[in-house]
Amino acid sequence: ARVIVLAGGLSPEREVSLRSGARVAEALRRTGVEAELRDIDGDLLPALAADPPDAAFPVLHGAPGEDGMAREVLELAGVPYVGARPDACRSTFDKSVAKDLLGRAGLPTPKSVTLPREAFHDLGAAALVDRVTAVLGLPLFVKPRAGGSAFGVTRVEDAARLPEALMACFAYHDQALIERCVAGTEIAVAVADLGDGAGPRALPAVEIAPVGEGIYDYTARYTAGAVDFYAPARISAEAAEEAARIAVEAHVALGLRDLSRTDLIVDQEGRPQVLETNVAPGMVETSTYPIALAAAGIDFGEFCRTLCEVAVQ
Ligand code: DAL
Ligand code: MG
Repeated sequence: ARVIVLAGGLSPEREVSLRSGARVAEALRRTGVEAELRDIDGDLLPALAADPPDAAFPVLHGAPGEDGMAREVLELAGVPYVGARPDACRSTFDKSVAKDLLGRAGLPTPKSVTLPREAFHDLGAAALVDRVTAVLGLPLFVKPRAGGSAFGVTRVEDAARLPEALMACFAYHDQALIERCVAGTEIAVAVADLGDGAGPRALPAVEIAPVGEGIYDYTARYTAGAVDFYAPARISAEAAEEAARIAVEAHVALGLRDLSRTDLIVDQEGRPQVLETNVAPGMVETSTYPIALAAAGIDFGEFCRTLCEVAVQ
């Protein structure tokens, strides 16, 4: 089979996507699959039409790409692909929509408000800080409504720093998701559906413990040694079981296929809460999805090949 791995694009996560995509393509080749990395551009549709591959593996992080746009092109070209359909990607990539869907499915997620840039200008910084902290308290996370790799994300402990955190966020998106910061253990739960009839299953939770006082920002995510990973996570068996159940239910509630990664905080009472679900999880050396596969004893190349085989069936 011939597979094209879609990566790159124009999002802020372009470099990460190229690294993830290169790893997926290499891993596929190691298992004997002909795999080619393609940096997406405006020629994607004509190129697919002229020489259709057997399957595509989208490894696009950020928008456009992870929001389902490239998968619309694959649908148009009639090329089977790994992962969720465009509409499910769109709603999952939008953190506000995704949190709403998760809440409706009864899954816990920290309290938040979505704030458009105009509200910041209309209300003025002081009134806005008062309103937001009255609803959510402190500390808070300010995040772009859609995006990844922690671009534009700030942890705010002091209300006076909220306006600058919003400005940093608005550099990436016109709307901010302001979320109550839950203290606890950060974990990532990879979900995989290997097409064997068992349905989506959770892999061992990976604990993310930034070294020192650090937070899990862009540098920590992509610098070897900046984060200690524990797989399985150092949480109780009950919390691990609950996190696994929640990650699988999130995958289903968001209408996803094949693979996803749900990031959670296990709070100090041992209750997991969903931060977000990713439809195109990072696949670089320091990414939690490949760490979870290794902890489950699943070979990365075999995993990628199986997903491609399922896509063409
Ligand atoms: N957005 C990055 C790539 C991740 O979720 O792993
Ligand atoms: Mg993310």
